[in-house]
Amino acid sequence: MASLNAIAQRLVEPGKGILAADESEPTIAKRFAAIGLPSTEQLRRDYREMLFRARDAMREHISGVILTEETLLQHAADGTAFRALLADCDVIPGIKVDRGAFPMPGSDGEKITEGLDGLRPRLVHYASLGAGFAKWRGVITISSTTPTRNGIRANAHALARYAMLCQEAGIVPVVEPEVLADGEPGDHSIARCEEVTAETLETVFKELRLAGVDLSGMLLKPNMVLAGTRCAEKPAVEEVARRTVDTLLGHVPAAVPGIAFLSGGQSDEEATAHLSAMNAIGGLPWRLTFSYGRALQNAALVLWKGRAENLKRAQDAFAHRVRMNALASLGQWQPDLDVAA
Ligand code: G3H
Repeated sequence: MASLNAIAQRLVEPGKGILAADESEPTIAKRFAAIGLPSTEQLRRDYREMLFRARDAMREHISGVILTEETLLQHAADGTAFRALLADCDVIPGIKVDRGAFPMPGSDGEKITEGLDGLRPRLVHYASLGAGFAKWRGVITISSTTPTRNGIRANAHALARYAMLCQEAGIVPVVEPEVLADGEPGDHSIARCEEVTAETLETVFKELRLAGVDLSGMLLKPNMVLAGTRCAEKPAVEEVARRTVDTLLGHVPAAVPGIAFLSGGQSDEEATAHLSAMNAIGGLPWRLTFSYGRALQNAALVLWKGRAENLKRAQDAFAHRVRMNALASLGQWQPDLDVAA
C-alpha cells in the first residue's frame, strides 16, 4: 500500500490540485452546445489539448487530470499522445471509471451509479496504460422525500466496492459522494446540506472500512457544505468554510491523506474563496485542495469557442483560474487578485 499512499500524497502536494476533465459525452455535449459547438471527437480533442498545453500552469499547479477513456487514449493534433503531454508536465493521469448515475429502482428521484460489472479487468487495463488514480461519483439528491437511508447506503456500498477494486489494481481511488447543490428542487438550506453530507460521509467511511479499503491510499472528493442553488439565503464564505470543515472533522478519518473538492456549480470565484477560507482555518489532519471541473474550465470554454485564434486567451483564462485555486489550496487567495486580473 506504500505506493498508493505515495500517489495520493503527490496528488495533494502543497500548491497543487486536480483538473477534472472527465465530462461524459452527454455532459461535454451540453457544455459545447452552450457555446454553439457540436460535440465531435476532434473538437473534444482540440478543447482538451488547449487545456493540457497550458504548460506552465499545468506543470506548476496541477498534480493530476481526470480523463475519460477516450481522452486517455487520444493524441494531440500533432500526434503526441495526451499521456505524453501530461507526463511532460509531471501530471498523473487519472480515469473516470463509473458509467454514470441512473434512476434508482424503487426510489422517487434518487440515483445509483453504475459501472461495477467488469470493472476489475478495466482497471487492470487502465493501470497498464499508466493511470495512477480513478474516480467514481455517487450522487445524493436533497428533496422533501430524499435522500433515503437506502439511497445513501446503496451509493456508499458501490463506492466502497469500486475503491477496493482500484486498490487491488494498484490505482488510487478518488471517492466522490456528491450531495448536489444544483439538483431539483435545490432550495434546501445550508443546515440541511450539512446534515445530509454528515450522514453520507459517515455511511461512506463505514462501507469503506467494511470493504477493507486502506484509507491511507485513497482521496475523498466531496461537495462543500452549501445552501441549494435556489435557496433564498446565501451563506457567507466563512460560514461555508466553517460548516464544511466541521462536517469533515466529524466524519473523515485522519488516515485519509487528502480531500479534493468538486465545485458542483459554484461560480469560479466562490469555489476559490471557499477553498481558501477553509485552508486559512489551518490545523487540519488532511490536505484540502481542488478537483474542479467547471470552476477551472468555465472561463476558458467561453473564450475558446472552438476557434484557433482564441486559443491563447482561453489558455490564459484557464491558467489564471488554476493559479487562483493553487493559492486557495494554501489559504492564500485574496479577492483583489481576481479583480486585478
Ligand atoms: O464529478 C464531478 C467532476 O469531477 C467535478 O466537476 O467541479 O464541475 O462539479 P465540477
